[in-house]
Amino acid sequence: MRIDVVSIFPSYFDGLTLSLLGRARDSGILDLNVHDLRDWTSDRHRTVDDTPYGGGAGMVMKPEPWGLALDQLASARAGSVAEPVGPRPTIIFPSPAGEVFHQSTARELADHEHLIFGCGRYEGIDERVFEEAAELGEVRLISLGDYVLNGGEVAVMAMIEAIGRLIPGVVGNPESLVEESHEDGLLEYPSYTKPSVWRDREVPPILLSGNHGAIAAWRREQQIERTRRRRPDLLPDEG
Ligand code: ADE
Repeated sequence: MRIDVVSIFPSYFDGLTLSLLGRARDSGILDLNVHDLRDWTSDRHRTVDDTPYGGGAGMVMKPEPWGLALDQLASARAGSVAEPVGPRPTIIFPSPAGEVFHQSTARELADHEHLIFGCGRYEGIDERVFEEAAELGEVRLISLGDYVLNGGEVAVMAMIEAIGRLIPGVVGNPESLVEESHEDGLLEYPSYTKPSVWRDREVPPILLSGNHGAIAAWRREQQIERTRRRRPDLLPDEG
């Protein structure tokens, strides 16, 4: 998979050289490129924002650098710039006004060949950029949740980590992806390791029984109980 990220703070993404995603990049499974939006400005001050038409607080990101950045990155496919071949990219703008990101969103996006993330700052990006981007690929506005961040960078970091670990070969043992919170609509069961007694706290005896059927049933019960207690909104209506 190819991922391009455009931001005015590219160093936010230095963390993606670490751990599993860092290894996926080194091995070529993940072609992740981070770009500075200011590289597509042409004035001395490398300006990316301006005052909003109609007045109001804050600044709005100018359309021109975004237009040039997206034109270039969307054509980074096989073939020529004028006639690229292969699937069109999916262009994602993190936004508190977008659809909410779920594990199902991560699963869906992990199947795409080319994702472009555009990180907005200030009061947002000139609306025409989204219309223009729709000429180049499928545009998605995606929110991390119902709260407001200072910009899209942290949201994009989270999305790339959630998507990246679902790409085949990124997580060494794919079985570990199956029994996770949200994979089957429930929260994950509790885990324990040695020692079996720690500070007078015992590991639930069933886990030491060697009875795989009973262990599986106990874990399932724990999942349902935890989900009912912490996240009842995830359970189908019981009434
Ligand atoms: N940018 C600012 N707040 C955000 C959020 N909640 N999700 C995604 N992008 C954002």
